[in-house]
Amino acid sequence: MSWLRTEVLRRADIVEVVSEYLPLRKRGSNYWALSPFKPERTPSFAVSPSKQIFKCFSSGKGGDVIRFVMEIEGLSYAEALRKLAQKYNIEVSDFSEHAQATKERQRYTALYQEAAQFFQRKLKDSPASLYLEKRGLRPDTIERFGLGYAPAEGNALTRYLLQLGYSEETLVSWGLSLRNEHTGRLYDRFRHRVMFPIHDEYGSIVAFAGRSLGEEEPKYLNSPETPFYQKSEILYGLHQARGCLRQGIGALIVEGYMDVISLHQAGFTQAVATCGTALTPAHVTKLKRYTREVILMYDSDTAGRMATERAITTALSVGFFVRVVSLPAKDPDELLQTAGSEAFQELLKTKQSWTTYLSSQSPMLPDAPERYHLLQKLGQNLQVIPDPLLRRVYADEIQQSLHIPLEFWESFQQMEQAAALPKPQQRQRITAEKELIRIAFTYPSVSHGGIPLWQLLQEEWRHLVFAEEPAEAIRCAFCEWELPFPPTPPQLAERLSPEAQDWLAEVLMEKYVLSPHWRSWDDSPLEEDPALTLESNLNLLHLNHLQRLLEENLLILTSLSPDTPTYKEHLSLHQVLLRQRAELARRQGVILPYRNPSLGPEEEK
Ligand code: CTP
Ligand code: MN
Repeated sequence: MSWLRTEVLRRADIVEVVSEYLPLRKRGSNYWALSPFKPERTPSFAVSPSKQIFKCFSSGKGGDVIRFVMEIEGLSYAEALRKLAQKYNIEVSDFSEHAQATKERQRYTALYQEAAQFFQRKLKDSPASLYLEKRGLRPDTIERFGLGYAPAEGNALTRYLLQLGYSEETLVSWGLSLRNEHTGRLYDRFRHRVMFPIHDEYGSIVAFAGRSLGEEEPKYLNSPETPFYQKSEILYGLHQARGCLRQGIGALIVEGYMDVISLHQAGFTQAVATCGTALTPAHVTKLKRYTREVILMYDSDTAGRMATERAITTALSVGFFVRVVSLPAKDPDELLQTAGSEAFQELLKTKQSWTTYLSSQSPMLPDAPERYHLLQKLGQNLQVIPDPLLRRVYADEIQQSLHIPLEFWESFQQMEQAAALPKPQQRQRITAEKELIRIAFTYPSVSHGGIPLWQLLQEEWRHLVFAEEPAEAIRCAFCEWELPFPPTPPQLAERLSPEAQDWLAEVLMEKYVLSPHWRSWDDSPLEEDPALTLESNLNLLHLNHLQRLLEENLLILTSLSPDTPTYKEHLSLHQVLLRQRAELARRQGVILPYRNPSLGPEEEK
């Protein structure tokens, strides 16, 4: 964990921070308020002072104080951390580790800045300059996007950067130079190409794309990924589009670098593109800080249509309003060059909701398979929308345009949910895992047989795999904890995805039913013997595990004929497992149904 994070968590009190935004009322051991994320009448937003976490039961969000500031202010992790550091007078530059990482990043972006300036200087009177002019770019546009030219000779940039004092190692590992296997000499990654610097959203250059001037392949050569450049997170043009997006205009997502540049030149400064990859949840999550709507405008070829369908699902899953524009030309750049910006403005007006777009892609024929596939596609997209109200709005839209009764969606949803529902045995296992996680964070220091519970669990958990994804992530993080004291939820949060943090907060936050008699409740948690809870749930998990082994083994056993050599082994394993299971069940006080082992897999109880 970073120094800064530790320090912020040490000094910041979640109750204090939250109460600056919401009026909190104490009920039981927690504080409650109306959800700041969703309109509601009864408070479902809880803060636990002892665990230093919050949980919003209506929106599902939960986590530590940093997460809260991120959510309520719409900030990135780093921004929220900085804000809290400021509030608690923590001097960011004091922390050597943090300063180290920042320095490394600064060195990286300084290097890329040097390289970009080098390419820009080389643009004058170069073939690239002519090329860009031919493609209709004005000097101010070229300047705004920092376009340049990588010279044709083999190592111009490398020589220049070495002269500035950068090491060969740095140039290679940060992606600007390549090493010739035979001679060991460095040469430039980008040669004789138009250079497009790729900025992060704050305007630092983190990568390049280089376009060939003619027909040479590859058409675009891209920087490799580095610790400071992840394609799945960077949107080309976001830095230049930020101002426009902040005004509440939907983001226009296009495929190519040239599309973004031409659009900005024509005044459509809400355009962004991915860097030659599919749209990821990380991309759209980043956009969500600026806008709630995306308009997809991918190329008019088959690849573009397929990308559109995937992007629809991705954007919906993050809670966007999603619209699509179908292009009458190859791509937006070509359309602008041939038809002009007014035609483009007109085209934008034809944006369709994703529901109508998908329906128009496969018209509703009376044909059963067509109908089936379309309804399935629409239904699956509805399912990923996290906000039930938005889901409902889109279901209504589909109902109206396709004359599909609402009950259809409801039954569809029920069917899907039923299919996803865990079997009873699985449910039991999941509950036991949850209980153990709750115990681990609620009573970490209670001793059991001379050992603190958290250490006992850490040991036990090393041999288990949890069924649910968030539980498994928490188990791993817990087992990896190396300090001699138990981790608090905020301390582990850094290693957990937002989903896992939500999940953990929900497990740890007892959801009090708000009753008029709450004042008469004692503030202390309900009577519980943590050691007993721990033991019985661990036993349950072991039982569950044995049960699964038994079933697998039985399956093999029933498929073998008794005279095969391995039959005996599986039979004796079966007996060992049965004995172990009986022993555990006796300790647990569980009555097992009697079954003849040779009758095939046991039914679930
Ligand atoms: N792309 C890439 N590498 C390639 C080809 C394409 O990374 N070898 C990415 C680039 O981000 C490019 C986008 O895919 O902008 C779309 O590719 P394409 O449609 O082929 O190019 P255009 O954007 O139309 O580029 P141009 O107009 O310069 O031909
Ligand atoms: Mn193009």
